[in-house]
Amino acid sequence: MLDIKTIRKDFPILNQKVNGKPLVYFDNAATSQKPKVVIDAITAYYQEINSNIHRGVHTLSQLATDAYEATRTKLKTQYNVKHIHEIIFTRGTTESINLVASSFTSLIKKDDEIIISALEHHSNIVPWQLLCDRTGAKLKVIPMNKIGELIISEFDKLLNKNTKIVAVSHVSNALGTINPIKEIIKKAHKFNAVVLIDGAQATPHMQVDFQDLDCDFYCASSHKMYGPTGIGFLYGKEDWLNKLTPYHGGGEMIKQVTFEKTTYADLPHKFEAGTPNIEAGIVFGEAIDYINKIGLDNIANYENELLVYATEKMLQIDGLKIYGTANKKASVISFNIGDIHPFDIGSIVDKLGFAVRTGHHCTQPIMAFFGIVGTIRASFSFYNTKEEIDAFVVALEKAKMMLS
Ligand code: ALA
Repeated sequence: MLDIKTIRKDFPILNQKVNGKPLVYFDNAATSQKPKVVIDAITAYYQEINSNIHRGVHTLSQLATDAYEATRTKLKTQYNVKHIHEIIFTRGTTESINLVASSFTSLIKKDDEIIISALEHHSNIVPWQLLCDRTGAKLKVIPMNKIGELIISEFDKLLNKNTKIVAVSHVSNALGTINPIKEIIKKAHKFNAVVLIDGAQATPHMQVDFQDLDCDFYCASSHKMYGPTGIGFLYGKEDWLNKLTPYHGGGEMIKQVTFEKTTYADLPHKFEAGTPNIEAGIVFGEAIDYINKIGLDNIANYENELLVYATEKMLQIDGLKIYGTANKKASVISFNIGDIHPFDIGSIVDKLGFAVRTGHHCTQPIMAFFGIVGTIRASFSFYNTKEEIDAFVVALEKAKMMLS
């Protein structure tokens, strides 16, 4: 059992009023709040060891390098990674996906096929469309059913010898659906296709094991995991990372540069050109420690309790419709009330202190599937409570009354 009252004390931002009302933060799928240990670690970095990494012989540079690399080691353990150099630091999930899609250019030919799914965020659609534009490859989409689950029998029909890449999300940011990625990976591998998993919405909520999944690439962002923005990672199997050409060129990613020819550094540096977000990389490690202290299994259980509770309570509001009711869901509820525009509800509940996201959630194809312009999305974290959900239901009733 989690002691939520005590946990909430770790998050200073939660203890404030917004528009004169106590803040209820239900926009965790967009970004999570940060515990004090994370906030303090940012200050400590700048006060104590700020310097560039991997470059200096001086003490501060070595301290910063060690702290930065310590996060890589934590990620290796966290996700059961075979080799530490299989973790590449990026600016976040979007950059990780772009890195892979871009670096695959020379390995993809006309008439090759890339499969994504109907549940993808734009960041796991557009990079593959760009790759198709560059190469002449074709993009295929695994469809979903009415409750927001991927239709795996249709995936079976899409797979063939031309399938080169399968890129799917672990958890849908818009609907919360948890996809059967282990099954998808296994099926794709039968056709020797490479599988990339967009894990941005999964890593804050559940334990993930890359060896067990056998994914070829997995991407995630620190800022959704209680860490700073501007840092994330790409996991890639060594063989694939060695085969791919670098995404960015610049300092630190080279072995030898002449005007005639450049040779690249070994992994992971081959993909890490330029000075990275050092502070965020170091502090990401604090966030991982913090999550582990609470325990990802505890987090998953409690958030599921919140999801079940909120679903039941919110469905009592007349005219409220939830989009995405998959059997396996993370703590995300996307909904509309009657014909009221989601933006109007979002604006009124904001005045009442509730932070939710409204709109298409960077998933316009999902909105098109349901024939809507957008939804209101409430996404819960382990620091949210059933009392907050009760208050949200009251606020929604109020908004509905004002707008009907
Ligand atoms: N991808 C983030 C979201 O779903 C920003 O809100």
